[in-house]
Amino acid sequence: MMSAMPTIAPALAAPSSASSGSPTVSTAPTVSTASKAPTAAAAAALPKGPAAPAGGIEPQPAAGPGGLEGIVVADTLLSDVDGERGRLVVRGHDVEDLTGRCDFEAMCALLWTGELPAAGEAKHAALRAALGQARLRAWQRLPSLGDALAADDAMEALRAALAHWRCPATMDAATARLDLSAAMAVFAAAWARRHHGEPPLRPDATLGHAADFLRMAASGSADPFAAARAAALDAYLVTAADHGMNASTFTARVVASTQSDAVSAVVAALGALKGPLHGGAPGPVLAMLDAIGEPANAAPWIAKRLAAGERIMGMGHRVYRVRDPRAAVLEAAVERLQAAGVASPRLALARAVEAVATASLREHRPERRMAANVEFYTAVILDAVGLPHELFTATFAVARVAGWLAHYDEQRAHGRLIRPASRYVGALPPGPQAA
Ligand code: COA
Repeated sequence: MMSAMPTIAPALAAPSSASSGSPTVSTAPTVSTASKAPTAAAAAALPKGPAAPAGGIEPQPAAGPGGLEGIVVADTLLSDVDGERGRLVVRGHDVEDLTGRCDFEAMCALLWTGELPAAGEAKHAALRAALGQARLRAWQRLPSLGDALAADDAMEALRAALAHWRCPATMDAATARLDLSAAMAVFAAAWARRHHGEPPLRPDATLGHAADFLRMAASGSADPFAAARAAALDAYLVTAADHGMNASTFTARVVASTQSDAVSAVVAALGALKGPLHGGAPGPVLAMLDAIGEPANAAPWIAKRLAAGERIMGMGHRVYRVRDPRAAVLEAAVERLQAAGVASPRLALARAVEAVATASLREHRPERRMAANVEFYTAVILDAVGLPHELFTATFAVARVAGWLAHYDEQRAHGRLIRPASRYVGALPPGPQAA
């Protein structure tokens, strides 16, 4: 299926390695099909792109469907999204076989080295310990972050905090992966504590990454369900760690393709993740569930939004034409959490709202085939583990940074400068026109 798509990807001839191999390059055809600039009249007739914010740049005509839809920009060994069948494969493993069965550390090992260590195995224990030590190094960086964590928005805080980072040229890829992944969790948790008027909590390097993030981000009071909640958060972090050529991963790869450093790639990717069409959706999903309140209100609430031309958050996807498989694995993880004794009153409501939203969208846009995406049940699971909604997108970053860094290394090892083309549809200067 993928091979039938237009491609600008160079061939990936060998397994990825952060440190070895010179880039393999091939001639990259332009994505644009235009051969010369159209006239202003032709430009006016072209389809419009999305509206710009008030006071921003005028909306421009989009080239074709826009958004690089269906364009292959890289060969990768990391993950594959099959939108027709609703399948996510990460380095040869179905997401259903990873979520709930391995933790974030094992997922990092899988993405970064291709090996999936079992819990308790020496390699797993070593990575868990190394990530713990990296969290302590991140903790020591907190005083040097200026007022970055004072931002009202968690993603703005993370972007500013990571931007303070100096990336020495001597820093090896393995240390960069550990330190950036650890920092994302430590900085996000410190922001959450500060946001609620509390001092940050020091990392506990003996804990797993999910358990420690949860402990640092939450109130710090003893929780009898801490282990069950940590397991549920691990399920989320594993599910969200990588997902094909999504917008933030592509952003990271563009930065990597210029041979810039890993910190710059992560800062840029954070900016892409922040938007409500990408990682910013779960907060609004929770707000939607709260506004609907009970299943009986779902149909009129959704009908009103669709009639007003609004999008239903947590629904629809660029690639999936069926239900996102990650929605199902997260739904199952919430069920496990409930079975362990942690109530999730929003699960039943979410299921009812999803059913109404799916049916309403089918009626509203029968040709588009929209179903629940990962963000729908992300809202439910992160709420159930006890994280505040304003930390949801930052928690996505805590997971996805593992994927960004795997893609960063792959792009550095095998990629070519990503530099697509645009089609100029503006005015030409007066004078003789080129033929
Ligand atoms: N609710 C209502 N309409 C939707 C919709 C949704 N959730 N998602 C897409 N559409 C409509 C758009 O309004 C658009 O209508 P138009 O053709 O009349 O302008 C059409 O479907 C195509 O939208 P587009 O944004 O081009 O499609 P896409 O495939 O690129 O969209 C998303 C993918 C994820 C951006 C989109 O489904 C969306 O905005 N979902 C809500 C946000 C969300 O959950 N994001 C998390 C993604 S994991």
